Amino acid sequence: MELPSHLSTLLLVIAIAIAVYASTPCVAAEPPKESPKLREDRMQWWLDARFGMFIHWGTYAMAARHEWVKNYERIPDDVYRKYFERFDPDLYDPKEWARAAKRAGMRYFVITTKHHEGFCLWDSKFTDYKATKTPYGRDLIAPMVEAFRAEGLRVGFYYSLLDWHHPDYPVDRCHPMRDNKEFREKAKNRDIRKYVDYMENQLRELLTGFGPIDCLFLDFSFPGPDGKGRSDWQSERLLKLIRELQPNCVVNDRLDLLDRPDGWDFRTPEQFMPRAWVSMDGQRVPWETCQTFSGSWGYHRDEATWKSPQQLVVMLIETVSKGGNLLLNVGPTARGTFDDRALERLCAIGDWMHLHSRAIYGCTQAPDEFRKPDNCLLTYNPKTRRLYVHVLVWPMGKLHLDGFADRVAYAQLLNDASEVKFSSQKGAWMAEQQGTQEGITLDLPMVKPNVLVPVVELFLK
Ligand code: GLC
Repeated sequence: MELPSHLSTLLLVIAIAIAVYASTPCVAAEPPKESPKLREDRMQWWLDARFGMFIHWGTYAMAARHEWVKNYERIPDDVYRKYFERFDPDLYDPKEWARAAKRAGMRYFVITTKHHEGFCLWDSKFTDYKATKTPYGRDLIAPMVEAFRAEGLRVGFYYSLLDWHHPDYPVDRCHPMRDNKEFREKAKNRDIRKYVDYMENQLRELLTGFGPIDCLFLDFSFPGPDGKGRSDWQSERLLKLIRELQPNCVVNDRLDLLDRPDGWDFRTPEQFMPRAWVSMDGQRVPWETCQTFSGSWGYHRDEATWKSPQQLVVMLIETVSKGGNLLLNVGPTARGTFDDRALERLCAIGDWMHLHSRAIYGCTQAPDEFRKPDNCLLTYNPKTRRLYVHVLVWPMGKLHLDGFADRVAYAQLLNDASEVKFSSQKGAWMAEQQGTQEGITLDLPMVKPNVLVPVVELFLK
């Protein structure tokens, strides 16, 4: 059947319009498409660094009982304000912080520019709830960035997506006022779009006012009933801004954009050790575990479950042995200092790192053919082709390495570069009788070297 010509022209026009519409990318809120090369380059320093310092600091340091205190104790704004009105970290010297981080062997730091309480450590134009309006009266971020950069550390900003102070932030299941009916009623018309504008403005300030920012840690999404996720935060819009302003900045995974390959750079398992290299859809991905000394991120005076230096060093080694980074947190006091418990641990880690950092920097999981011996962890530097055996429990003179036969040219203790002699088990009665794979046996000294975790450095053939 022939269509009247004006009708077929109309249909043609509609078909063309649909085709054009469908093929036009929706550019407005989309992060720019990136080449894998750009991403790889951006990640390189971060993958080599392996060890960073997280710093959680805000007015909650005065409460000294967890950075979620406002939420846990459902403290209303007018009561919580007592901290803001008295915040005066008179002993704050970021050069000391930077020296402590450097000495511990950390290669980057991530500071809470704003945590969930909403208090801003920098002189933001978009709020009065900031350090410059407290009795302290000065910006805390600029001198910190300068001090850490001067020590050669990379700069990271943490920025909380949640905000328990902002007047446009809609109350949700994580809000301190969640159970207060009257408050909820009054707040029911809060417009999150206004709050997103505020976040965008603040992120622009942070990403344009302090030089190159190497890393951004946005925290966090909790989609679902009474929660917030990508559509609330307009995550694509925020990420687009970040990529435009600082294309070399690595961004964490808490914008609720996990299904987009370009929606995040690294995964962030928090306060636990993954069983193996973190993977998604069967693919290993970059990951960073953030960990506390004692369970609280903000300064906690009475928290007693501090991890020992030994546990912390093992945590670092284990993380790298599974291909990850460790971001270890310090919660400075409201005087502006690292407390002695933190300093003591940082020093102990630093002593170990001083002798063993080359078993950490640039290292990753060992190739599968090298079997992990009992009571040991393995790290591997693919560039130098050296394999590190971290000996967690010191054996009685001999350490058997299965699967290492004919692979090792030389071995030494890393702490003092003293030779470790070894013999091949090839054809030895032990290998035959015990059914072990062909390997080597290291001749270790009977006495454990005086370091937290001794490391044997193997030069591979
Ligand atoms: C969490 C907590 C928080 C901490 C952070 C660190 O999501 O809300 O207080 O800042 O994790 O990863």
